[in-house]
This record gives sequence, C-alpha cells and structure tokens, in this order.
Amino acid sequence: MIELRDLTKRYGAKTAVDGLSFTVRPGMVTGFLGPNGAGKSTTMRMVLGLDAPTRGDVRIEGKHYAELKEPLNSIGALLEAKGVHGGRSAYNHLLCLAQSNGIPERRVGEVLEMVGLRDVARKRPKGFSLGMGQRLGIAGALLGDPRILMFDEPVNGLDPEGIHWIRTLMQHLAREGRTVFVSSHLMSEMAQTAEHLVVIGQGKLLADTSMSQFIAENSRTHVRIRTPEPERMRDALFAEGLRPVTAEDGALEVDGGDAARIGELAAAQRIVLHELSPQQASLEEAFMRLTAQSVEYHGHAPPVGTQVPPGGAAVPPGGTPTPPAWGESWKKGGRE
Ligand SMILES: Nc1ncnc2c1ncn2[C@@H]1O[C@H](COP(=O)(O)OP(=O)(O)OP(=O)(O)O)[C@@H](O)[C@H]1O
Ligand SMILES: [Mg+2]
Repeated sequence: MIELRDLTKRYGAKTAVDGLSFTVRPGMVTGFLGPNGAGKSTTMRMVLGLDAPTRGDVRIEGKHYAELKEPLNSIGALLEAKGVHGGRSAYNHLLCLAQSNGIPERRVGEVLEMVGLRDVARKRPKGFSLGMGQRLGIAGALLGDPRILMFDEPVNGLDPEGIHWIRTLMQHLAREGRTVFVSSHLMSEMAQTAEHLVVIGQGKLLADTSMSQFIAENSRTHVRIRTPEPERMRDALFAEGLRPVTAEDGALEVDGGDAARIGELAAAQRIVLHELSPQQASLEEAFMRLTAQSVEYHGHAPPVGTQVPPGGAAVPPGGTPTPPAWGESWKKGGRE
C-alpha cells in the first residue's frame, strides 16, 4: 500500500504536485494518468524519497522510503530506464543491486529470464535499444520480489510483444496480491490493464475511482441508429420522449438511450434498421474530457484544407502557395 497525504512539491514558483491525498491499494493495477507536466513523475520520485516534499507525506506500508531496511524487497520501481551504469554488463548491474539489498545471486538470472534478456546478460546496456533498456529497468524492479511495484511509463519503447508481456505481468503481479502503480499515456493500453485510476492535472487530484466508473462519469454513452426512414424513426423516438440528434453521416444518435427499447420501437412501427449500436466512450475520450482544462502543453494542427508538403510551403488544395501560417505559432504549443 502507498499512502499520500497532502503531498506537495514546489520548484521555485512552480507547484508541480499540489496537495495530493490518495491510497494505492494492493490486489489491483492502479493507473496513474495526467497530461504532460501534470506531476506524475515528481509524485513517484517523492514516493522513493528521491525528491523531498515541500509539504505533506508519503508512506510505503506505513514507512517512509528512507526507513525501509532493504528497500528493493518492499518496493520495486522503474522510473528512468536510462539510470543505469552504461559500462557495466546487464548481469553485473543487477548483481550490484542484489548484493546491496541482501538478494541472492540466483535471482539475477531469474529476472533476466523473466524479462527476456538472458541472451544479452553479459552485454553492456550502453548498446541496448530503448525497449531493452526498459526491460532491464523492469528486471531491477522485480529483483527483490517486492510487494509493491511502481512503473513510470513502462511500455515506452516496447514492441507489441513487449507491451502485451508487461500488461500480462502487471495483472499477474496484482492477482498475487501486490500493489501495482503504473503511469502511461497509452490510453487503450491502460484501459486493458488497470482496474483503478488516479488522474491528476496541474499537480491536483482530478479523480480516484474504478476504471468503469471513470468512463461512465466522464463520457457520453449513446445509441446510434441508421435507417432508410430517418424521419419516421425520429418521430417515433420523439413520441417516446427521446431526443435524437442527427450525426454528420446522417445517423441518429440518442443520448443515454436503451438499444433494446429502441429496437422494439422500430419493430412496432415496422421501420427498417441498418444499424442499432450502443456506443460506449473510450478511456481516451473520458480522459480528454476530464483533463481538458488542465492541459498545459497544447500542440497546434495545421488549418483544415491546408496541405504542407514535406519541406515545402503550405498549399491550399488547388491554390497558390501561402506562407505556413501555423508554422510560426508551433513554438507556443511546445514545452517551454
Ligand atoms: N527538478 C525540477 N526542477 C524544476 N521543475 C521541475 C523539476 N521536475 C519537474 N518539474 C516541473 O514539474 C512539473 C511536473 O513535472 P513531471 O515530470 O512530474 O510531470 P509528468 O506528469 O511526469 O509529465 P510527463 O507526462 O510529461 O512525463 C512540470 O512543470 C515540470 O517542468
Ligand atoms: Mg513523467
């Protein structure tokens, strides 16, 4: 269990983490979400005592990180995959970690096997790809067989097989009763992996809830109907007190409608349906809706109808070249 109480971190005038209080519980994967710069990595660094809170407190199984006797046996973490001595072999890197935490040497071979790096165990991480570096970081986190695991964007750089593997691994660790706390920007992946979510924006807590409740509360569910007789269908829906809207492609959409009831209504009126589908919003839509106000770093899309050829000026379809109007403003959208 990881417990945060009013956890706050300021860097000069910037409040990176702002009064966070929540508990990460065992037995499930808890996803940690937030836009770029929301304070996720800073929070995780404070859990590990790598950054001191300006105010508040964070405890691991009731203790501060510094009070843990052999920390790798309590909490395993992957924060910065490149935080490895580049000249030491993967095996020796893990052996050093093991020896400083009273972990037997045989465990080094076991975790290298688990993460699929056995064949490069004697190679130096300097030459590792991004994904291999992530796997080595995960091996380090697993070394002490800890009750708590914390991963900051672990799927970053992993290939599809690697992403599938880490999803399965995290779920397996959670089923064993461990606490698994993981951040990621890959919403579709998170939707499949996490059972519980903690969402922050500009350092503040926005949500601490189950995945299903989060999607239900922050998104629009509706029923989509396509029919060759939209006028009759609309009238029938109105008569039932439902308020359909017409989508761009001509389909009717009924907010919060019940598909079975709508199907029965169409059958009673002998209206032909080409589609009747309940639409459940995705985690991505729910996340974007909730965090829209707290996104600090926006990108800018080129204006609609403008094509930008590689290395060339913007050219409206069939028109003469114009200066790249959005080209000047992109810097504002970048990280300052
Ligand atoms: N050592 C530091 N010194 C000054 N400011 C910092 C420091 N570390 C983080 N910050 C600032 O704190 C804020 C939160 O950063 P943090 O890296 O925790 O965000 P994040 O949620 O992990 O973002 P991302 O999704 O991009 O990884 C940012 O505005 C960042 O610039
Ligand atoms: Mg981060």
